[in-house]
Amino acid sequence: MTVTDIRIPDEIKPVDGRFGSGPSKVRPEGVEALSAVSRTFMGTSHRQKTVRDQVARLRRGLAEFFSIPDGYEVILANGGTSAFWEVATFGLVKEKAQFAEFGEFGAKFVQAVTDAPFLAEPTVHRAPAGQAAYLSAEAGVDVYATVQNETSTGVAVPVRRVAGADPGALLLTDATSGGGSLDVDVSETDVYYLAPQKALGSDGGIWLALMSPAAIERAFEVKATGRYIPQFLDLVTAIEQSRLDQTYNTPALATVFLAAEQVDWMNAQGGLSWAAGRSTESAAAIYGWAEKSAYAQPFITDPAVRSAAVATIDFAEGIDASAIAKVLRANGVVDTEPYRKLGRNQLRVALYPTVDPSDVTALTECIDYVVERLGR
Ligand SMILES: Cc1ncc(COP(=O)(O)O)c(C=O)c1O
Repeated sequence: MTVTDIRIPDEIKPVDGRFGSGPSKVRPEGVEALSAVSRTFMGTSHRQKTVRDQVARLRRGLAEFFSIPDGYEVILANGGTSAFWEVATFGLVKEKAQFAEFGEFGAKFVQAVTDAPFLAEPTVHRAPAGQAAYLSAEAGVDVYATVQNETSTGVAVPVRRVAGADPGALLLTDATSGGGSLDVDVSETDVYYLAPQKALGSDGGIWLALMSPAAIERAFEVKATGRYIPQFLDLVTAIEQSRLDQTYNTPALATVFLAAEQVDWMNAQGGLSWAAGRSTESAAAIYGWAEKSAYAQPFITDPAVRSAAVATIDFAEGIDASAIAKVLRANGVVDTEPYRKLGRNQLRVALYPTVDPSDVTALTECIDYVVERLGR
């Protein structure tokens, strides 16, 4: 008998076994709605009303969901968050940036700016995996950048402006995995950017950014300097196209539709406070279980920065988390493996609002069941 022969009884299994941090659970109702427009929307031109109406629905829905302040705009384009880091490097940083880096995703944006030959060396405040790093006022910095939820470790920080920053300095917040699961006052940041494959319960491939008037003005200001900006990464083009409810080049239509459908669904449930509440409920279920467990504990020791969007759970010596993940996977409960480069004896569980809190509780029961059978 191998570990994957362990059968978890159906009665204790979650109704939906998808716990991945991205791509994450897509609601079957969303896919059904997409299926209903398979002949009228899919396979039609993104320059025509049918598709532009869906882009408009998504932009409108996000504006409502995040209660964006007056003058903020919802901008989108292709390439996911990774593309947005390059877009911001070319189009928002004037000269010098400062970063709070506390995980692999934050580090990627730091790399993009560090590599840009036309920008000064950025200041980087770093923290070891599992802890948070913070921004602090520094003369000459025109862009501050941080991550609301570091998906690689499960550390989350509040979105707050940097006290004492130079007038006009922008704050950019990576909300790829925090957006939609964690509470936010968008007026506390200039760019709140995310991607559709997490809380928005859709597929990957586009980036979305809630941009303040100051950030939009900065994009035009940087472009006017004549700096070389690759066409595909031109933020001014993205702004102008978004205002027309379209994208510079062809988007994945299914991604746009599923995201619009999900945002409408979340708004109908009660919006961001409902969504964040649901994630908080899931977080209480998994961390509460881990704290009581004899062999599991939250990786993030400081409860103040423990994420309600992505939970990371460490296992005691002698309990092999990768074996647990394998058994879960063989039983249809998938994507609980930790972030690959973190290298810990850990499971990682998405708590996005799409995931039912009762399924998170069921997952903890499944883990207990598997550990009992694996033995120490
Ligand atoms: C916090 C964070 N930032 C950025 C990214 C990269 O997003 P994308 O795959 O859309 O480029 C991810 C993806 O998981 C993420 O979790």
